Amino acid sequence: MRSLLAVIILSATPAVADSGYARLDGHGGPVKGVAVSADGKHVMTASFDNSVGLWSLQDESKEPIWLEGHEAAANSVLFLPDGRRALSAGDDYTAILWDAATGSNITTLEGHQGKILDISATPDGKLAATAGWDGAVGLWNAETGESIAMLKGHRAPVQAVRFAKGGKLLYSASSDGTVRLWDVAEKSIKRIEVKHGFGINRLVINEASGWLAYGALDGGVRILDLESGKEIADVTSGRQPVLALTLSSDGTLMGIGDGEGYIHVVATDEWRTIRDFRATARGPVWALAFDGNERVIAGTIQDHADIWPIATAKSVAESDAAPRDFLRDPATMTNGERQFTRKCSICHTLTEDGGRRAGPSLMGVFGRRAGTLPGYTYSDALTGADLVWSDETLDKLFDLGPEHYTPGSKMPMQRIVRDEDRADLIAYLKDVTGEAPAQEIKK
Ligand code: HEC
Repeated sequence: MRSLLAVIILSATPAVADSGYARLDGHGGPVKGVAVSADGKHVMTASFDNSVGLWSLQDESKEPIWLEGHEAAANSVLFLPDGRRALSAGDDYTAILWDAATGSNITTLEGHQGKILDISATPDGKLAATAGWDGAVGLWNAETGESIAMLKGHRAPVQAVRFAKGGKLLYSASSDGTVRLWDVAEKSIKRIEVKHGFGINRLVINEASGWLAYGALDGGVRILDLESGKEIADVTSGRQPVLALTLSSDGTLMGIGDGEGYIHVVATDEWRTIRDFRATARGPVWALAFDGNERVIAGTIQDHADIWPIATAKSVAESDAAPRDFLRDPATMTNGERQFTRKCSICHTLTEDGGRRAGPSLMGVFGRRAGTLPGYTYSDALTGADLVWSDETLDKLFDLGPEHYTPGSKMPMQRIVRDEDRADLIAYLKDVTGEAPAQEIKK
């Protein structure tokens, strides 16, 4: 039945649904986390561009409040139950507690030794939990940001966390293929709840109905009874990996997003498919959140969040969505352009305005003193560096890697090992962004 439905929807008209579809535009990178406030008035988005957007759901054209503070990709967002505070977590190993009305940073939760992929909070808003790629589950005071404990036991990155029983219990899911159950007061493990065999990426809990659902690397989506631990349903579609899993606030709908770009909406009463459609022509669906029971908001490889009306959403065709630059056919590019598109374009533009990307625009970079493009917030490492960008310094930057050449820089570790690739990249950059004025290149 499920596969039949998928086939019918796939062959339906290939245009983006006309009525009710909307878009939250403004990010400069893929959207990796989405959350809707309990009152349904706001949505938050976390992006690869390091920013968190706070948008009005009543007026989607309104400019969002940008929450700036992460020094690397933001992965996950959450409104605290009071609706006045919010949490975000990122690749910079931190979570940030925000004032959701003003967008100001209340405090930063520091302690993980790896990226943070997910956050959960207790219904009273007093405790928060984080899923770390360092293998730890972080437990925090959500009012002060203080670390309470780092729960160790998983053998691989932790991908998801969810509180239960008012915050007495905590479930965590990991790439080690297990879901573990922790006693929060004791700060100790109670038991291993699931052994799936493949990494588990996502976790949701419906306590009122007494079940837990998880989504995994192999595409598996299984539902377990919370009391007995027995499997009560399996809504695996066959597409993999599962990257997003969400519940409507009344628990009657579950949304599943996968690496193949589909959104699968399931009614949880009988575990039947309500809708299963291709939401993005290429690339994954990273994040999902329901807006009531009519709409589902998705973060994908595109630089915007899509708002889909569930009843009328139709699959996009391969050719439909405008592909990002880095999805262009590499065969049509020179080696230098290919290097840039693959290794730099996700974080840097070559245009004047720079877009909302994680890194500064590289327009005019030759002859520019490091850390001086107006309007971009650099790390101290770069503003303090006594460096002018030239063929030689750019070559060194990627021969040695930013972590050695500009230690403390927030540009992630990366080297380009082949001399030829660096030379081609630099030639391409010079071609597109212009030669430096001669007097500036001399220090
Ligand atoms: C994942 C994101 C990311 C990628 C990928 C990335 N950068 Fe960066 N880059 C940054 C960030 C963030 C900064 C600012 C660093 C800081 O302030 O410490 C930066 C800074 C720079 C600077 C210094 C600019 C200035 O104004 O001083 C140059 C040059 C640069 N990057 C070139 C590149 C090139 C070339 C590539 C591809 C080979 C690349 N970057 C890939 C994020 C990235």
